[in-house]
Amino acid sequence: MTTIKIALLGFGTVAQGTFNLLQDNAELIRNRTGVNVEISKIFVRNPDKYSHITLPETAQYVTDIDEVLKDDSIQMVVELMGGTTFAKDCVEGALKAKKNVVTANKDLLAESGPYLLDLASKNGVDLRFEASVLGGIPIIRTLYESLAGNRITEIIGIMNGTTNFILTKMSEEGLSYQDVLKEAQDLGYAEADPTADVEGLDAARKLAILASISFNRRIFFEDVSVEGITSIDTEDIKFGKEFGYNIKLLGIAKETSQGLSLNVYPAFIPTTHPLASVRGSYNAIYVKGNGIDDVMLYGRGAGSLPTGSSVVSDIMEVAKNISYNETGRLKPFYYDQKNIYSPGKIQSSYYLRLEVDNKTGVLAKISAKLAEQKISVLSIVQRNMDPETAVLAIVTSKCPRSYILNLIDSFNSLRSVKSVNSVIRIMEA
Ligand code: NDP
Ligand code: HSE
Repeated sequence: MTTIKIALLGFGTVAQGTFNLLQDNAELIRNRTGVNVEISKIFVRNPDKYSHITLPETAQYVTDIDEVLKDDSIQMVVELMGGTTFAKDCVEGALKAKKNVVTANKDLLAESGPYLLDLASKNGVDLRFEASVLGGIPIIRTLYESLAGNRITEIIGIMNGTTNFILTKMSEEGLSYQDVLKEAQDLGYAEADPTADVEGLDAARKLAILASISFNRRIFFEDVSVEGITSIDTEDIKFGKEFGYNIKLLGIAKETSQGLSLNVYPAFIPTTHPLASVRGSYNAIYVKGNGIDDVMLYGRGAGSLPTGSSVVSDIMEVAKNISYNETGRLKPFYYDQKNIYSPGKIQSSYYLRLEVDNKTGVLAKISAKLAEQKISVLSIVQRNMDPETAVLAIVTSKCPRSYILNLIDSFNSLRSVKSVNSVIRIMEA
């Protein structure tokens, strides 16, 4: 049986999940691929940190990347360090040395994916990245292979476990954003610096990768309009429930007659929508295609073994390609040049929460401003905070975002409006 030597770069959460699966399922992997995948080197900064882990006899730690890149016996490099600088140098170096690469690095892919895929193709090697989007959920291969015969029209996903955990806890237990963020950090879901999670950047990177594959065009992180969840208040979540909605941070990529819209934002979705029941740190992705109609994948979007599961499936695929001498066949589908559609033009219903003077005639002034902007109201709920102040929660009909921004300006010009506290989109079922 052929032996294929691989190197792991980094030995953190995902790399250890990958390592454990490669050890525990070694026989199954051999039987399914017909090759023996052998970890030869593990590149780390400080091997002492990992002294509690027993390596197989064939494997050793190295601290000089050239010991991997210049070792001709290593045919596959598995980059699991993260980051876009040193990791990019390593991936580039490996591809140029005609080594196949597997990575889970969404930051790198969202920034330099098209370039690296071209580089892999030019060098006749594979670059696989199933784990980079939604951890253990097999969405990349599904789009590349299983749904390849479809024209994809829309993808909607809950693409970040940390924010879904936070919003679920706020919704179900009435806890504040700050309290739950602390819990997410303590449980290890959130990053040490959780900005990329809560500001929607992590979801935007994943959306850029998926949209590139789905819409046959080079799409980068900068092409995605991003809003995070930091301003979501438990008050909004309570009002949302009264209107029949759950709140989720969504990544949405959609083809319209005017072009592609690429957005990450928190949105209310009807409790009847399949994505509304995705709770806690789980992720899900809903894909619409002109053949399949719609399909939804659900599962763990992060974690050592779930993410390792995707990395191992890529390692197995590449190992088979090496053994059949078929690497470098995966060509990116970058033949299209659709517009990216301005977020200002996207139509949706909106939820607004305002604090207003608790006086006769205020509602009439609010209604007049809505009428001036040609926005009709679907529902309105009023709660009195104290004798002087009332809270209004308004659900509007569908309109462009630019109308809502004008409406907010005109509300702010009213003396009886104390503040416009929240503006949240509503997604249709
Ligand atoms: P960790 O922080 O747990 O592990 C990173 C590893 O890489 C550590 O061993 C670290 O070593 C090493 N490393 C980092 N920088 C360098 C460097 N310059 N030189 C040598 N070693 C380095 O990260 P994760 O395992 O969580 O993430 C790895 C990748 O997987 C990232 O791209 C991440 O976005 C992606 N990913 C992670 C998921 C998850 O659930 N965690 C899910 C999906 C994707 P040291 O200890 O010395 O810092
Ligand atoms: N921080 C990410 C999340 C990890 O919460 O989803 C997986 O990409």
